[in-house]
Amino acid sequence: MKIALLPGDGIGKEILAEAVRILEVLRGEGVAIETEAASVGGAAYDECGEPLPAATLALARDADAVLFGAVGGPQYDTLPRDKRPEKAILGLRQECDFFANLRPATVFPELAGASTLKPEVVSGLDIMIVRELTGDIYFGQPRGISGEKGSRVGFNTMHYTEAQIRRILHVGFRTARARGGRLTSVDKMNVLETTQLWRDIAEEIAPEYPDVTLSHILVDNCAMQLVRNPRQFDVIVTGNMFGDILSDEASMLTGSIGMLPSASLDAEGKGLYEPIHGSAPDIAGKGLANPLAQILSMAMMFRYTFGRADLAARIETAVRRALASGLRTADIAEPGTKPCSTAEMGTAVLKAL
Ligand code: IPM
Ligand code: MG
Repeated sequence: MKIALLPGDGIGKEILAEAVRILEVLRGEGVAIETEAASVGGAAYDECGEPLPAATLALARDADAVLFGAVGGPQYDTLPRDKRPEKAILGLRQECDFFANLRPATVFPELAGASTLKPEVVSGLDIMIVRELTGDIYFGQPRGISGEKGSRVGFNTMHYTEAQIRRILHVGFRTARARGGRLTSVDKMNVLETTQLWRDIAEEIAPEYPDVTLSHILVDNCAMQLVRNPRQFDVIVTGNMFGDILSDEASMLTGSIGMLPSASLDAEGKGLYEPIHGSAPDIAGKGLANPLAQILSMAMMFRYTFGRADLAARIETAVRRALASGLRTADIAEPGTKPCSTAEMGTAVLKAL
């Protein structure tokens, strides 16, 4: 198992370090794990002027899986767009064709009270968002800002090929088949032609999956339904931008964005695994970050890239036990209780493992 470690910026280093402690224990047990680290994002820009250096990209390509922390920081926001840390994650997704992004939103029973929504609305929640990751308005051309001050124009292009839509919808259908059998496809077909095409193709594919019930929902309504009655959803499949927004929204149903892992897979099952939260520069270096999304991302790596559902389940159970012991990092602590540190949470997971 060749794993590239890309910690990135902000809390990325701290949380990835906790995941690596677990990898070391597994290696000690005889699991054939090889790791190599490289810098990415703002850290790489500081070192060599590029957010995604050629050596880092080569390492990611050569690995079976990439364990990714987070990138970004306010000091980089004024750089030219192609030098910004975000370019690294977008470049990795595009260059390695990690097109299928799986973002689960599950409420741990121990944390049902941590959501800003009523526990009776979110308890038992288990949604999987399947987000397309290499197309849409994120990558469409033309794009830019043109004209003179006073009459400038900003423009981006929403763009999807039939092939791109088909392959992500198939991932959606297969994911639904392996879970509750219900797939909700999210679009904005009342306004946007690109998403009309999306809906048409979903209808064309549906007969290939007679065991999956397909429904369609407009993205604005989906955003509303996610906070009104989130448990109506099983698997949601959608494009890059809608998926970006809806997955942040869904994360809050669970109480903390600090809990949510993700997998970004290519057609062969190689993948990049990252927490869905960002680099949180405001708390970086203070030992306050929640390492669980990173650790759970690593569990997804064992399940999806390495076919080791046993190791994935062991790690997930260890996380559950750490939570059951009462430990909480600041983001999930109940008001008035004392939060634990990043390393204390990591240690609790290790012990449970
Ligand atoms: C995410 C992030 C990224 C995205 C940013 C950092 C480019 O928000 O992974 O959801 O928009 O895809
Ligand atoms: Mg996002």
